[in-house]
Amino acid sequence: MEEAKVPVHENTIFVVSGPDLYKQANEFSLTALWDDHNVISLKMAKRREVLAKKRANEELIKAAYVEKDDLDYFRPFRHYDRNGLSVYLASGRGNKLSIPVKHYIQNLLKLNMEGPYGSEWEAQEKVKRREMVAPEARYIFVHEVANTNAKKTKMMLTAENTSNGFLENGGPLVGFVQYRFIIEEEIPVLYVYELQLEPRVQGKELGKFLMQLLELIAHKNCMGAVMLTVQKANILAMNFYISKLRYVISTVSPSRINPGIGIAKSYEILCKTFNDEAKTILEAVLVNDNREMILTFSRIGDELEETARLTWLIFFRFL
Ligand SMILES: CC(C)(COP(=O)(O)OP(=O)(O)OC[C@H]1O[C@@H](n2cnc3c(N)ncnc32)[C@H](O)[C@@H]1OP(=O)(O)O)[C@@H](O)C(=O)NCCC(=O)NCCS
Repeated sequence: MEEAKVPVHENTIFVVSGPDLYKQANEFSLTALWDDHNVISLKMAKRREVLAKKRANEELIKAAYVEKDDLDYFRPFRHYDRNGLSVYLASGRGNKLSIPVKHYIQNLLKLNMEGPYGSEWEAQEKVKRREMVAPEARYIFVHEVANTNAKKTKMMLTAENTSNGFLENGGPLVGFVQYRFIIEEEIPVLYVYELQLEPRVQGKELGKFLMQLLELIAHKNCMGAVMLTVQKANILAMNFYISKLRYVISTVSPSRINPGIGIAKSYEILCKTFNDEAKTILEAVLVNDNREMILTFSRIGDELEETARLTWLIFFRFL
């Protein structure tokens, strides 16, 4: 389709496609189908809308980071005592990690992830070391409680004056979660950077418990979704997220953006969405379907143009 202005032919048929019409019009140069005045007003209205949305999203992210301890709102979740496992949770931040905790994180990552990453591990390890200490990195640390002290610890943790000093000097770490609040495709999301449990505490539903907690934290901070990246080779984790927790492969995952290229990538991006907008953008096939449809019709249009001199047949559909 030409970029230049094309006069609207009286035989042109518009069947408009839902709320994203303006976006699609811009993406596919269909602005040519409006006269000058309308094109300009459409663009200005769209720009205002985009700016307002961007500001609102930035405010949400800022507000999410104001919270000092995300676990404060979820005190009953601070303790997990099931399946022969007794642990308690403590919050942390990337720029406040002690040296032993940094070593712990690096060692557990290597233990759990060197296999799934294979030859990519060396490069990934460096990336993960940088991500680990980023000021915006939020942590939930999982500490083990010796069985005999479980009850006592639970009492201390639910007390109003629970101190972080106690938590840091408490039982040994058995895992951690690292996450951030970010904007993905104009949707504010909680992105899980890491969920790592030591092998001896895996398979006891602690991972599910932690993911549910993250979903609550995301909800509480008005995020539209929880997102994460999984190595395709990490079959157990993939199964955990998709079969057990009902996460889906996101539209932003390489395999969905372009299956041809995506197949060569070693990872998938998964998501669970909490509202219609996030669902449409991060989960649904709708956008790509429409894109394909518009391109198909624009090709038909080009052919018609050649044979019938600018008699375009462009279908959109109202949703
Ligand atoms: C993936 C992980 C976070 C899941 O947490 P978990 O507490 O072991 O999982 P849960 O007990 O809540 O759920 C078990 C399910 O997860 C899957 N799973 C993943 N790893 C598992 C493991 N090592 N042992 C048992 N089940 C495992 C299974 O599909 C299982 O399904 P089932 O209950 O139908 O048998 C945890 O196993 C882990 O830390 N693994 C290593 C690091 C990793 O791969 N992290 C994810 C990176 S994206």
